[in-house]
Amino acid sequence: MKTARLLALALLAGCSGGDNSTPTGSASIPDGTFARIQRDILTPSCANCHRAGDSNARLSQLILTADSSYQQLVGVPSLQTLAKADGILRVKANRADSSLLYHKLAWIPGHHSRDYGNLMPMGTTRSLTAGQLEYVRRWIEAGAPRTGHVVDTTVLLDARTQTASFTPLPAPAAGTGIQLGVDSFAVTPNLERELFVYRRLNNASEMYVTRIQSRMRPGSHHLLLYTFDESRTTFPCNTRPIPDLVRDLRNPDGSQNLLNMLPMACHVFFAGAMTPEFDYSFPPGVALRLPANAALDFNVHYVNRAPINIPGQAMANLYTAPRSQVQTVARSLNLANTTFTLPARQRSTIRTQFPMSARTTVLGLTSHMHALGERYEIRVRRANGMETSVYMNTDWEHPAFINFSTPIVLEVGDALVSVVTYNNVTDRAVGFGLLSTDEMNIIFGYAY
Ligand code: HEC
Repeated sequence: MKTARLLALALLAGCSGGDNSTPTGSASIPDGTFARIQRDILTPSCANCHRAGDSNARLSQLILTADSSYQQLVGVPSLQTLAKADGILRVKANRADSSLLYHKLAWIPGHHSRDYGNLMPMGTTRSLTAGQLEYVRRWIEAGAPRTGHVVDTTVLLDARTQTASFTPLPAPAAGTGIQLGVDSFAVTPNLERELFVYRRLNNASEMYVTRIQSRMRPGSHHLLLYTFDESRTTFPCNTRPIPDLVRDLRNPDGSQNLLNMLPMACHVFFAGAMTPEFDYSFPPGVALRLPANAALDFNVHYVNRAPINIPGQAMANLYTAPRSQVQTVARSLNLANTTFTLPARQRSTIRTQFPMSARTTVLGLTSHMHALGERYEIRVRRANGMETSVYMNTDWEHPAFINFSTPIVLEVGDALVSVVTYNNVTDRAVGFGLLSTDEMNIIFGYAY
């Protein structure tokens, strides 16, 4: 019954949608990019719910049959509460990332962490194919015109599911570097999965890293690589995680796994990316040094809002150069305030000054705070008292990394200043500590 109705709809749309001017001449294929979206996607996959008289259509106030879909999508404000609050239109011409239609169809969103309700087509475990999603995205980016061919139809040939469309990053050629990563793992529906894997690099001699490149399957907020603070010799920093073991930060019921969180207290930032693709090269002649037999703790954080398992996977390439090509060894900056106290039930701002005892060239900066942290600002303070803000982060779980295209040179007497605002909503005073219920206040970065 339902199939018959769908078929009838598809046929109807097929006959009425086109202006019959396609160069290839098939009268039954409607012309133009939007007509193709209507025929291949909206009519067969959406219009069974989004049609006049259906309760789903009343709920969404969206009709996607061929007679109405364009007027109801393009330039129309969203109904969904959060999308509306964000000012997202159903389709905003030229801006897929500001178009609710695109977000509803993308089952493994790469960047946005906002929850805009059910993914479409609702009620199935089958998303649009990777090619269909890309076709819709490009149509929006091309201005979302009602008529005309604006997207190459060959993208539709990618019939893979959205989760399958990922090409792993090729490893560096032998002798030019190494690759490390976490293999494909499942992220179950409506779950967050943040995990660490401790990887030994098996490098017989010291290594000089000149470039860091990474790639992750979409759906992760970040990829982070950490070394360990060798200067801390008390528990838990006097032990190292078991190599190659996946350590989940959350138990299957969503509660925190405190044991697996412990090593986080000893981490020193080595590299990080907040985008699916990342590629950073140190300035010519500059490299980060890793000692022989080094190891890195590899960290990714996936969030899955789709009704299917999505795979997570990430890899990083460390490109190396021989010592003879390295004039300057960069080091990790690790500037921590471990002595602050946050009184209960109030907001506090902690300001800490880290004066430079030698000329320091800062290449990049990131920050580390825990869940009570609201805002992390880093300023450069010159010896004459002048301060300039150079870094800002308001999301403690996803710290921004800023690599300065022009490095910041600090003279003796200049300082880096951290200005961190915490909101201690708990009933007890909180200070620096290892657990996620404690707080952190660290500037990480690269410098020489
Ligand atoms: C089983 C019924 C059903 C199917 C099939 C379905 N939808 Fe929906 N759709 C809904 C319901 C119910 C809502 C409102 C709830 C929500 O947004 O989560 C909705 C909301 C939407 C919205 C948000 C409208 C707004 O302004 O907030 C868009 C866009 C959308 N659907 C597009 C689609 C597209 C495109 C398809 C096909 C690929 C599709 N839907 C398939 C039931 C369905």
